[in-house]
Amino acid sequence: MSNLGAITAVKGFRDVLPAESRHWRRLEDVAEKVFGRYGFGEIRLPLVERTELFARSLGDTTDIVEKEMYSFVDREETALTLRPEATAGVVRAYLESGLVQRDPTARLYYRGPMFRRERPQRGRYRQFYQIGAEVFGRDDALADAELLVMLTRYLAEVGARATRLELNSVGDRTCRPLYRERLRAFGLAELAALCPDCHRRLERNPLRILDCKVEGCQRVLARAPVMLDSLCDACRTHLEEVRALLEQEAVSYAMNPRLVRGLDYYCRTAFEVVGARLGAQNAVGGGGRYDGLVAALGGPDVPGLGFALGLERLAMVTGEPEVAAAGPLADILPLGDRAVGPALALATRLRDQGIEVALEPAGRSLKALLRAADRRGARLALILGDEELQAGRITVRDLDRHEDRRQALGLDVPGPELARTLHALTMESSA
Ligand code: HAM
Repeated sequence: MSNLGAITAVKGFRDVLPAESRHWRRLEDVAEKVFGRYGFGEIRLPLVERTELFARSLGDTTDIVEKEMYSFVDREETALTLRPEATAGVVRAYLESGLVQRDPTARLYYRGPMFRRERPQRGRYRQFYQIGAEVFGRDDALADAELLVMLTRYLAEVGARATRLELNSVGDRTCRPLYRERLRAFGLAELAALCPDCHRRLERNPLRILDCKVEGCQRVLARAPVMLDSLCDACRTHLEEVRALLEQEAVSYAMNPRLVRGLDYYCRTAFEVVGARLGAQNAVGGGGRYDGLVAALGGPDVPGLGFALGLERLAMVTGEPEVAAAGPLADILPLGDRAVGPALALATRLRDQGIEVALEPAGRSLKALLRAADRRGARLALILGDEELQAGRITVRDLDRHEDRRQALGLDVPGPELARTLHALTMESSA
């Protein structure tokens, strides 16, 4: 092959190496454990969906649908999209699989990659990972409160630091249209101070102006009317019930009347987990209620609610617990080619006993092999040279104490006994 230079990953896409994925695995394992207590089962969804699914659910004036989706037409002329989020897919699966009839109050959680063509920066990638949970068939405030209790318990269990839960209500079909008009009227009165994007938003979907990041707009919007003051009685009661239950359970949260989510399917409860030290991309997670979504995707009028956490950002606020990756218990060092077969046999026998063992390639000096074993952080070196093969014995060197113990191990000792002996040796050396 000719050498044409290194191929790099696509901008905004990154690799997750073992040190980081170990951390992620812990975050996922705790999610499975905690969410399990609340009755959630895992759903695994396709990464690719019909483009129409997202166009119909996320809102066609959202940033995601307007400019961030990875969409393409496949060879059969089907319009497809790499999922930018999973809620729409979960709803599709809930309907398509018949859960809607069999288990209308299904609770499903998921984890996996999402794709959005945003401008990459710290904490923002074009492929990122979420852990999320969705609840169907419940319109009562108890369901909202239970979900938020679960979320905060999960965050506590993974040791999330410096995060706060922000809560708002974004109203429903009854009261939001009225609020939208109030906001439009406010925006029109302030037109000169708003950016061109906001002018467009005012026409198509005034609520989106609240999300504008332009400083001048933010200054104006600080005076804008808020949804909380325009809630209908049903929405107000729902919010009060959620809050009372959160307070009963001592869940700490702050009301944020300016919280708007970046997706259009929300109604009533909307919330975000914000990381205090994360900088610009400070939302660790977010979610809320989406009572009209199942119907909008062709199903019956079933309510729903849920949230998703960004794994990269969750990892930033949980930090790496300082357990350095433990090295292998033993590193097997074959000195010459004749030792290759016996070395593999030895490694297999130990690994079959559940022991982590490294195996070096043959053909280097003992000194080089011992250095390699040290670098791996192995506790013991199992040396197989000509002398050892002749005598049918393994030289075991304790790498912490630098001493040989060749008396202990015959090459043909059965796996379980071998494993016990090696464990005993390392116990001795750490005593
Ligand atoms: P979202 O707020 O769009 O909500 O995303 C949830 C979380 O995903 C964010 O808070 C953030 O941590 C992470 N995230 C989003 N975009 C990026 C990115 N480009 N890079 C890194 N992390 C990112 C949803 O996706 C909804 N489906 C949540 C939901 C579930 N609502 C109801 N059920």
